[in-house]
Amino acid sequence: MSSARSMVIVCTIGIASSLLFARAHPFGDAGLYAQSHSGSILQHTDIPPDARETLLTKCADCHSTQTRSPLYGRFAPVSWLMERDIVEAREAMNLSRWDSYSAEEQQAFKTKILLETKSHHMPLPQYRVIHWNTRITERDINVLTQWARQSQSISVSQAASVTTEGDAARGKDVFERRCTGCHSLDQNREGPRLNGVFGRVSGSVSDFGYSTVIKQAHITWNETTLEKWLTDPDALVPGNNMEFRVAKPQERKDLVRFLEVSN
Ligand code: HEC
Ligand code: HEC
Repeated sequence: MSSARSMVIVCTIGIASSLLFARAHPFGDAGLYAQSHSGSILQHTDIPPDARETLLTKCADCHSTQTRSPLYGRFAPVSWLMERDIVEAREAMNLSRWDSYSAEEQQAFKTKILLETKSHHMPLPQYRVIHWNTRITERDINVLTQWARQSQSISVSQAASVTTEGDAARGKDVFERRCTGCHSLDQNREGPRLNGVFGRVSGSVSDFGYSTVIKQAHITWNETTLEKWLTDPDALVPGNNMEFRVAKPQERKDLVRFLEVSN
C-alpha cells in the first residue's frame, strides 16, 4: 500500500470518528444541528437598533438559541467545548427569551452586560480568537451605556409613589436581585461589602479600592443619605464608581430598611 493511500485512509477514519463523536455531548447538548435558525431575536423589544446590532453580532452566538455554528464546530472535540460555553451562556442570559424576563430582570441584565463588556470579559476570549471582529469597541460601550441609561430614566419617571414604610424582607429580595451582581454583605466584589454599612462613614472599608471622591465625601450612611445615594449616586457624590440606580421609591425604602436591620 502506498503511503499516500494510507494517509488518505487514516484521515478518513479520523474525520469520520470526529463526526461520530460530535454526536455525543459530554458537556450538554446545545441542539446546534437540530434547529433551523430562522426568525429573528430581540426584534419586538424596545432595544435601540444599534444596541441590538451589537448584541446580535457579538453575543447571540452563545447567548441565544440562534447560534451560527461554523463548519469546524461539527467536529469533536471542538464541538464539545463550544457546546459547553453555549449551554452555560444560555443559562446565564438567553437573548431569545428577552421578552419573558421581568422589567427588573432586564434592568439587572443591562447592568451586567455593561460590566461584562466594559471589562472585556465578554465575548469570551476563545470566541474572539476565531471571530476576530467581535472585540468590544468604544462605540459598542457607548451604545450599550446609552441603552442602559435611557431605560433607567424612563422608569424613574414612571416610578410609583411610596405607599408604605420600608419592609426589610422585601428589601432583602430586592438586594438579591439587584445588588448582588456587584455587592455581597460579607465580601468585597465589584463594590465594597455592605455588612454594617448603615451608620458607617462612606468609603471606609479599608481593603476595598474606592474612588477618591467617595473616600473624601465623609458621608455617614443613614436613611436620608442612602435614599439619595440609591436614587442617583452621581448626584450625591459626582464621579464615584457605582453605576447603578434604583428607580422605584418603594424599593429604595425597602432596601434601606434591609441594610439597617442586617447590620
Ligand atoms: C463564546 C460564547 C460567549 C459569547 C460570544 C458571549 N458570552 Fe457571555 N457568557 C458566556 C458564558 C459561558 C457565560 C457563563 C459563565 C461566565 O459567567 O463566565 C456567560 C455569561 C454572561 C453574563 C452573565 C454574567 C453573570 O455574572 O451572571 C453576561 C451578562 C454576559 N455573558 C454578557 C455577554 C455579552 C454582552 C456578550 C456580547 C458582547 C457575550 N456575553 C458574549 C459565553 C459567551
Ligand atoms: C454595577 C455595580 C454595582 C451595583 C449593581 C450596585 N453597586 Fe453599590 N457600589 C458599587 C461600587 C463600585 C461602589 C464603590 C463606589 C466608589 O468607590 O466610588 C459602590 C458603593 C456602594 C455603597 C457605599 C458603600 C461604602 O462603603 O461607602 C453603598 C451603600 C452601595 N453601593 C449600595 C448598593 C445597593 C443597595 C445596591 C443595589 C440596589 C448597589 N449598591 C448596587 C457598585 C455597584
